[in-house]
Formats: sequence, structure tokens, C-alpha cells
Amino acid sequence: MTEAFSPKNIIVTGGAGFIGSNFVHYVVDNHPDTHVTVLDALTYAGNLDNLQGIPDDRLTFVHGNICDAELLDELVPQHDAIVHYAAESHNDNSIADPEPFLRTNVEGTFRLLEAVRKYGVRYHHISTDEVYGDLALDDPARFTEDTPYHPSSPYSSTKASSDLLVRAWTRTYGLKTTISNCSNNYGPYQHVEKFIPRQITNILSGIRPKLYGDGLNVRDWIHTDDHSSAVWTILTKGRVGETYLIGADGEKNNLDVLKLILTRMGKDEDAFDHVKDRPGHDRRYAIDSTKLRTELGWRPEHTNFESGLDKTIEWYAQHQDWWERTKAATEARYKSQGQ
Ligand code: NAD
Ligand code: DAU
Repeated sequence: MTEAFSPKNIIVTGGAGFIGSNFVHYVVDNHPDTHVTVLDALTYAGNLDNLQGIPDDRLTFVHGNICDAELLDELVPQHDAIVHYAAESHNDNSIADPEPFLRTNVEGTFRLLEAVRKYGVRYHHISTDEVYGDLALDDPARFTEDTPYHPSSPYSSTKASSDLLVRAWTRTYGLKTTISNCSNNYGPYQHVEKFIPRQITNILSGIRPKLYGDGLNVRDWIHTDDHSSAVWTILTKGRVGETYLIGADGEKNNLDVLKLILTRMGKDEDAFDHVKDRPGHDRRYAIDSTKLRTELGWRPEHTNFESGLDKTIEWYAQHQDWWERTKAATEARYKSQGQ
């Protein structure tokens, strides 16, 4: 299918984070006619090292907050699209302190939508499968674009709120928007607070991995490279006003993933601790991405989870300098929460 929209000058919010920076590399590597401006507040989760190696003439970095309306007035008119990744992204943090999630995820999205309304640029909204709540382990159903919203955590409720703002602004003001809701990403450059990098870097640091509750919670894993190719596909070929679910048929429970990490790293598969469960812990996520595949022809490339995990383990083993600065503080915070 030919591209309906060829963006020349895009803003990527949150482009110094895990998934946003992957998308920036994807665009720079694959679309030489597109210039990228990253707008990022460099919170604890943002890291300029994630953007290393990108030529200066392909990337402009702006250190700023998406809640800053004056800054948006300066930036947005010089661009033809915004891809909005910036968020407070971690469920456990949202349980400990929800307020920053309201600011960035809800107010930040509102500010961006107002700028989109003023300057008429194309807008793609990055969201999560968590807006749909959870499924039972024995439920044959998966989430589709028609599943009702039913978020469980402060994080997912702010993401759901931001999705609803996008839908309302699109219908009321006729904005040119699309939304994608993706499942759990894994790959290099993910913050050590998240499940897979936390366990890999625990093992590398001589700390026993930590599993919440019974560990039977299911997540639907997708490699972040596949998330990026899906977002580009939706931005350039997607129908305006539509939502697309992104997933790679990667359902696995946490216990199996942890045992796999342990064995691939040469450890006994039982060498981990059970810790306190997450309050309100969603049981299972599962994505049906038929619409994206049939309508826009997208396919994931990283379909072998074990091989993707091996490469991710290797990356963390070789990039200790990238993660060790944040490791001690992250573990101290978890310890204070009993996790
Ligand atoms: P991350 O926490 O690694 O990165 C977030 C980035 O946003 C950081 O660079 C941070 O500095 C920046 N940021 C935060 N607040 C900001 C603000 N007010 N203004 C400007 N920049 C700000 O997050 P991630 O895991 O890369 O997730 C990116 C997006 O993808 C989020 O919208 C998240 O909801 C969504 N998502 C994540 C996953 C996943 O598995 N991690 C899955 C589906 C969707
Ligand atoms: O589904 C998409 C979502 O995936 C995104 O919207 C979020 O931004 C992203 O953080 C992720 O949310 P999860 O809460 O699913 O991811 P997390 O890595 O925090 O946890 C994955 C699973 O592992 C979850 O069931 C909780 C469990 N867990 C997590 C940690 C950090 C553990 O058992 N032990 C741990 O130490």
C-alpha cells in the first residue's frame, strides 16, 4: 500500500526514552527525507545517550516539557506531524505517586492537542493495551479496537484519559489524528525499573531476581523495533480518526519469562525470590492486531522471543555503563516498597 502521508519534519515527544528513541533511530535509518525534532524533558527515564550516533543534520534536540504551551507555540508551526511518546510510563511509580502521571499524561496530551488544533499538523498518539484493563487467564478473547476501556492503575487510567482526549478533540475539532495501543515492549535501552531489564541487571549485579505474586500474570511481548515499524506504518498509511492495536502474538507468563532469563544467563531456574504483589495487578493482556495487519499490511519481524531475549541480555551485559548509574536508586526504591 502506498504511503498516504509523507512527513518531512516531525516532532517526537519523549524521544530520549526507551521506545521513543528507538522510533527516532528507525526514522533516521529508514526515511532519509524526514527530519526529527525530539522534545523531551529528560526526566529520570530520559537519556541523551539513547540518541547517540545520529548525525546532527537529521536530529534537533529540544530540552523541554510537553506541558509548556509557549514552547509548543514556537515549535509546532515549523513541523508537519507530532508523534507523541512522552509519558510517565511505570505502573509501580504511579501507585506510589500518581500526580506526575496526571500532569504529563493528561495535561501534557491536552497541551499538545491544543497546539495541533491551532496549527493543523498531523498527530499520532502512542498508547497502551492497559487501557482495556485485564483478561482472565482462561479467557479465549484478546483485546480488539472495540474492547471497552477499563483501566486498573493510576498509570493506565491516565493513558486512557489521554486517549479519550484525542478522540474528543478529533471528533469536535476535526484534528487529523491516529491512536495506537501496543502491548509490552522489550529490547535494549529499556529502563532497569521494568521487568525484563530489572531481572537481567539483577543477575548481572549478583542480586536475586524478584517476581511479583504467583508470577502467572501474562504479558504480550513485542520487540521495540516492531513497535517502531508499526507506528511509522500507521502515521504514513493509517486512516485519520482510527485506532490500531499493535501486538506480535507474544503472550507469556512472568514466571516462564523469568525462568528463561535465568537459564539463558546460566543460572538455576529457581534462583529468584517471590516478593509482594503489585496492588491491583492486571492478570493478562493479549492483543489481536488483525486490523493493523490486514488493513495496512504490517508484520512483526522479531517473532522468535528467545532469540530477541538473548540479544537483549547480551546488550545489557555489554552496556553496564548505560544502566549502572540508575540501578542502585531503582533497587532502593523497590526495597522501600517491599518489592
Ligand atoms: P520511558 O519512561 O522510557 O520514556 C518516557 C520519555 O518521556 C522519557 O524520555 C522522559 O524524559 C520523557 N518525558 C516524561 N515526561 C515528559 C514531559 N512532561 N515532557 C517531555 N518529555 C517527558 O517510556 P517508554 O517505555 O519508552 O514509553 C513510551 C510511550 O509508549 C509511553 O507513552 C507509554 O505509555 C507507551 N507504551 C509503552 C509500552 C512499554 O512496554 N514500555 C507499551 C505500550 C505503550
Ligand atoms: O502493556 C503495556 C505496558 O507495559 C506499558 O503501557 C507500560 O508503560 C509498561 O511499563 C508495561 O507495563 P507492565 O506493568 O506490564 O510492565 P512491567 O515491566 O512493570 O511489569 C511486567 C510484569 O512483570 C508485570 O506483570 C509485573 C511483573 N513484575 C515487574 C517487576 C518490575 C515482576 O514480577 N517483578 C518485577 O520486578
